[in-house]
Amino acid sequence: MSQRTRLALAFTATLALGAALPPVFRGSVLRMQRSGEMEGTLSGPLRRASADVALAPAAVGGGLIFNGADDAFISLGGQQGQLPREELHVGALVSVETPRRWGGIVGAVEDNAEAETGWVLGYDDSAFTLMISTEATDDGDGKLITLRADQPYEFGRLHLVTASYDGERAELTMDGVVVASSDAPGGPILYSGEERLTVGAYRDVNEMFPHDGRIAALEIFDTPFGGKLAFRKRFGAANPTPWTDATFDWRVQPYLTWPSTDAVSILGESTWPSEAVVLFRPESQAGWTEVTSGTPGSRLHEVRLEGLEADTKYFYQMNLIGAAKGDAVPVLEGPLRSFRTAPDSDESAFTFTVIGDTQTNGAVAKRVSDLAFEQRPNFVVHCGDLVDTGGNKTDWTETFFPSMRPLIEHAPLVPVLGNHEQDARLYYDYMSLPAPERWYSLRYGAAEFFMIDGNRSLGQQSEQLAWLEGALAASKAKWRFAVLHQPPYTSDSNDYGDTTKTSSTRGDMNVRNIVRLLEEHGVDICFSGHVHDYERTFPIKDGAVRPHQDGGVLYITAAGGGGSLEDFDGTNTWFGNRKARRHHHLHVAILGDDLELQAMDEDGRVFDTLRLRAR
Ligand SMILES: [Fe+2]
Ligand SMILES: [Fe+2]
Repeated sequence: MSQRTRLALAFTATLALGAALPPVFRGSVLRMQRSGEMEGTLSGPLRRASADVALAPAAVGGGLIFNGADDAFISLGGQQGQLPREELHVGALVSVETPRRWGGIVGAVEDNAEAETGWVLGYDDSAFTLMISTEATDDGDGKLITLRADQPYEFGRLHLVTASYDGERAELTMDGVVVASSDAPGGPILYSGEERLTVGAYRDVNEMFPHDGRIAALEIFDTPFGGKLAFRKRFGAANPTPWTDATFDWRVQPYLTWPSTDAVSILGESTWPSEAVVLFRPESQAGWTEVTSGTPGSRLHEVRLEGLEADTKYFYQMNLIGAAKGDAVPVLEGPLRSFRTAPDSDESAFTFTVIGDTQTNGAVAKRVSDLAFEQRPNFVVHCGDLVDTGGNKTDWTETFFPSMRPLIEHAPLVPVLGNHEQDARLYYDYMSLPAPERWYSLRYGAAEFFMIDGNRSLGQQSEQLAWLEGALAASKAKWRFAVLHQPPYTSDSNDYGDTTKTSSTRGDMNVRNIVRLLEEHGVDICFSGHVHDYERTFPIKDGAVRPHQDGGVLYITAAGGGGSLEDFDGTNTWFGNRKARRHHHLHVAILGDDLELQAMDEDGRVFDTLRLRAR
């Protein structure tokens, strides 16, 4: 098949064809056919195409496939003065495979510091957008206004999107329906002269966000009528059957969550609809057991292996069977990996990692998680802010998951929600946790973890506090740990009042509500994130420092997974003990009545050690 035919071939027949175009296309600035050919009235040195832009088969509607690579876009430079100015109509038959905060279909835009000029038809993580700068909204150096569709697009589906501006009113349509409009702009479109007409990316002088998806057809007009109507007429009626564009590949490679004595969850995501098949076996047996996800046609799969033996090493492999394209049934084989189930005895030994606030800095998070993996922990507790923006899919697929490998391929993830997750659906999609997922308790050997959502109310009448009280009261575990994102106690400099000038509450007052329960029910350590530092308090009980053996609860902030570091109050707090301003993770080991904790920075230096004896 000619899918990988270089786009350059499709370009050889292109010219500046204004005079030769059929009347209906008069005024067309740029027209891209489903064959990938482009024509229009632009002149000058144009058309640079990347080899990574491929043609889609005509049978599925044709067009160009953009693979999301940084060099996979089409630049049409040198056309200053030829871009639509008084009026603009853009039509695109387009699909989005990877939602992005700044997605671009076509545009000629500059957005740098205060300077905002030009326009771009694009999308964010769930909806199509038109950004446009006009003379009437110019605040001196240009100002882009954004129209955002009030309905989401569907991943992988071709949508007919048009954007128009008639000098007074801007309008965005999706599949023939007006999804956003604005009377705010006015006057001619404002250009600085720096804009470069680009297809398949949101691109300006210093930003490059490539499109991952298909552009099956595209037209840009500078006429008031011909454009939008002609485009709709040609493509609106014959919207091809949904077809997914990307090559069949992993979007998120398999990883583990929610460990127990007899079960674990395995999740993975593909670019195409698929069905997941997981093979697994204990190390002592040769024969594989097979389970399917039962979710054919999904991309994200979650398989819970059940009926496992406690404290046993298992091998597993997740494979994905892609939806057939013609006669071919594509298969993706996941890597062969292993995990150990939780022990069922209070006397057994195990270790776990504590990490928090991995957020934007994937390179640091990767160093930290690789050091954690060196210890081969049984599981990974994450204190929240896994990502920077919970609703932004690429934060998960391109930053969080890659930075946590190979750790989470072997050690199941046990997270809580941070504020940066934004309670987004993607968190719940990517995590498999005990109901209701936003809070839960988890027993592991001699320990029980109380996983709390610090973003929700923990007030006296709250559902979550009632649950926590019941769960703590019912616990029989020797070791008890609370985990929540916001710290009940912190010596941080400015999150809870600027300590250089004023007073501070020294912690989050909503989550402070759990302190009484932690003390009453013998919680040993409360782990938190949020304040991007390391801190271990003295044990606290009844608002004072008390030995752990007398019921004092230790508060440990472990928020050094990658987010930009913060700082401490210049004067110590009444509870403050060890502090460190560096990226880090914690290694915690439990052997019956003994607990050992080490904090390790991103260079592998252990900078804090703690030993506790069970009460
Ligand atoms: Fe954070
Ligand atoms: Fe946070």
